[in-house]
Amino acid sequence: MNYDLSVDLGERSYPIFFRPHGQDELAERVLGEAKTGKVIIITDKNVGPLYAQGLADSLRNRGLRVALLDFPAGEPHKNLDTVRRIYERCLQFGVDRETPIVGFGGGVVGDLAGFVAATLLRGLPFIQVPTTILSQVDSSVGGKVGVNLAEGKNLIGAFHQPKWVLIDPQCLATLGIDERRAGLAEAVKHGALADADLLDEIAQNADALLNADVDSLMKVLPRAVAIKAEVVSQDEEERGVRATLNLGHTLGHAFEADCGYRGLRHGEAVALGLRAILQISRSRMGLSLRAEERISAALDALDLPSSWAERMRPSVLDRVDLDKKNLGTSVRVVLLRDIGDPVVVAMPRDEFKEQVSALAGVKCSSEVV
Ligand SMILES: NC(=O)c1ccc[n+]([C@@H]2O[C@H](COP(=O)([O-])OP(=O)(O)OC[C@H]3O[C@@H](n4cnc5c(N)ncnc54)[C@H](O)[C@@H]3O)[C@@H](O)[C@H]2O)c1
Ligand SMILES: [Zn+2]
Repeated sequence: MNYDLSVDLGERSYPIFFRPHGQDELAERVLGEAKTGKVIIITDKNVGPLYAQGLADSLRNRGLRVALLDFPAGEPHKNLDTVRRIYERCLQFGVDRETPIVGFGGGVVGDLAGFVAATLLRGLPFIQVPTTILSQVDSSVGGKVGVNLAEGKNLIGAFHQPKWVLIDPQCLATLGIDERRAGLAEAVKHGALADADLLDEIAQNADALLNADVDSLMKVLPRAVAIKAEVVSQDEEERGVRATLNLGHTLGHAFEADCGYRGLRHGEAVALGLRAILQISRSRMGLSLRAEERISAALDALDLPSSWAERMRPSVLDRVDLDKKNLGTSVRVVLLRDIGDPVVVAMPRDEFKEQVSALAGVKCSSEVV
């Protein structure tokens, strides 16, 4: 069965290959891109020894010159200091305009490697090899690349679409179960946006998915990615429908920021934000109880956190003010009329806060606490 997908963007269209045990094919495909006999692989210190070193070795055996550049794992390293060090190492290696950059790792690696590819020598060919569930279902597709500033996440960036994406679910065997769980929250989000059956599939096979069973993953990952690929094909630069991919993220980002990006993974925060949005959608958009339960069932089966109301401190709501997706005095929030029927609503900030507070049973402003 062929699971491959494509992102349709005219001349910049590209394929997404789903390849369990795909490391040999990966090497062959990278070889095909290396027109000047050189390739740069960017990875982190966890994924390097596990996978990227193997790719570098097999490319060298095929006669390529390979720079394998790594940086310490984790979000704190997704910054301009790391980018500068990588630029320097690329130049020392003798990078030219046709040297492909392979981003081999999770979303941090993909975002940073893509940013290097977007900017070095005004743009180099870029290949995404995502190795976390989050990066496989979400960040590797769509061309958003970038790094963080001390002032906030992803404040520097570009759109730079990859030449192709190769997803090998076998790589997920070495990923911690909590990372898998958090990544699957994004798959639930995609199901809520467009595919009710995907939600049921996740709910029924949650244990196998959490245990990185490749057959189960192959039933879920391509479907989840197909939704993102379709949305990006319609709206590359987020002028319209792409904004619906932020479902659960307005409050999710606020939860994440409120705990200083420690103690709550991004996907866990999204699960909390999604659960809150389901409540708001029930009261404002007429989302049915049955639809809400179908989405919650997938989150519950994955054992994703549900305690959004208890965690809804005034400081979380204050964070909503800082979200860069907001416009003026409104909060841009994605609500659901039904599964597969999202709507982006600009809600006056105070009204949004009051609504969330009422549902959570907390006071809505830090002044009154
Ligand atoms: N560009 C986009 O559209 C987009 C979308 C969503 C998220 N993001 C970004 O993605 C990032 C989060 O990505 P993430 O959750 O993949 O985090 P991550 O890249 O930090 O990976 C999580 C951890 O898992 C390790 N790891 C990765 N693959 C592994 C494997 N196969 N086996 C063992 N360990 C492995 C990493 O070294 C890291 O320690 C954030 O920076 C976020 O802003 C970008
Ligand atoms: Zn997300």
